[in-house]
Amino acid sequence: MERRPFGILPNGKQAFLYTISGGALTAEISDFGATLVRLYVPDRQGVLADVVLGFDDANDYLASTTYFGATVGRNANRIRGASFSLGGETVQLTPNENGHSHHSGPDSYAFRLWQIERQEKNKIVFSLHSPHKDQGFPGNADIRVTYALEETNTLCITYEAVSDRDTVFNLTNHSYFNLAGHQRPELAMGQTLQLQAAYFTPSDAQGVPTGELRSVAGTPMDFRVPKVVGQDIDEDYESLRLQAGYDHNFRIDGNPCAVLCDPVSGRKMEITTDCPGIHCYCGNFFWDEQGKDGVIYCHRGGIALETQCFPDAVHQPKWPQPIVKAGTHYRSQTKYTFR
Ligand code: BGC
Repeated sequence: MERRPFGILPNGKQAFLYTISGGALTAEISDFGATLVRLYVPDRQGVLADVVLGFDDANDYLASTTYFGATVGRNANRIRGASFSLGGETVQLTPNENGHSHHSGPDSYAFRLWQIERQEKNKIVFSLHSPHKDQGFPGNADIRVTYALEETNTLCITYEAVSDRDTVFNLTNHSYFNLAGHQRPELAMGQTLQLQAAYFTPSDAQGVPTGELRSVAGTPMDFRVPKVVGQDIDEDYESLRLQAGYDHNFRIDGNPCAVLCDPVSGRKMEITTDCPGIHCYCGNFFWDEQGKDGVIYCHRGGIALETQCFPDAVHQPKWPQPIVKAGTHYRSQTKYTFR
């Protein structure tokens, strides 16, 4: 098993970095946050580059709110007022952003040391026990995240969970991609993105959806035809002004739900998922973040494409719900294929 130290946490525990490889891909994943730290992908000439943003040490992840590459749970994204009702009872979460819950509060799964359940050459399985009332969510839950690299140059992430009470399971991976290589942050906004999504969920000024599902037609939110990510990002459009750029959830109409392409290297990534939504966030809220290998990530130096339920779905009964019944097995899978 290839692993190397990845920092000693404030509680004295050692975090590790594990390497897996499959097809032409190699990934380095930490047990801290079950975080994807590096992902090496060939370009059209076969030259490898690490296409995800990250840090060199687990403590840097702990000190940051970027969630680079992390497994976010039990609930990804925002819940208005950090509370909701489930089975007639109020679930009270810890507010960590404007009175709302963001990525499940200050004690997100992204900041925990996960167990290694199994490791093979091309696969690693992490598990986490999350007790009843952890982060405020009901139910003793056992959670498993599997990273596998398939021969088709595919990174496949599978989330599985079960709880002894009705609860929320809405996990995602929070990788920020830059297909030119993470060390070229200035090139991220020049990549083209296509989203199979005719509707998005506009948010208020605090990033919580208003409940509207709005057509992208005739707006800068339209990525149905491939478009340079940065082309319309500063358009004078209310949703872009409120979120300082793209930081929105799109309703997925089909797969691949997202295709990201770097015209310079020729690297292309297709995302396929069983989730109803994909959140596209362009790093609008970080400026000159000190990343891996001494690289400084400038503003908008990567593109996060997070597959998940629509944010705040627990308050929008018409939307697909992240609620999973007691004893029912939750399973969700997202594949990132490189061509
Ligand atoms: C959110 C952003 C936030 C980022 C990092 C994203 O999922 O939508 O608003 O800045 O996570 O915390």
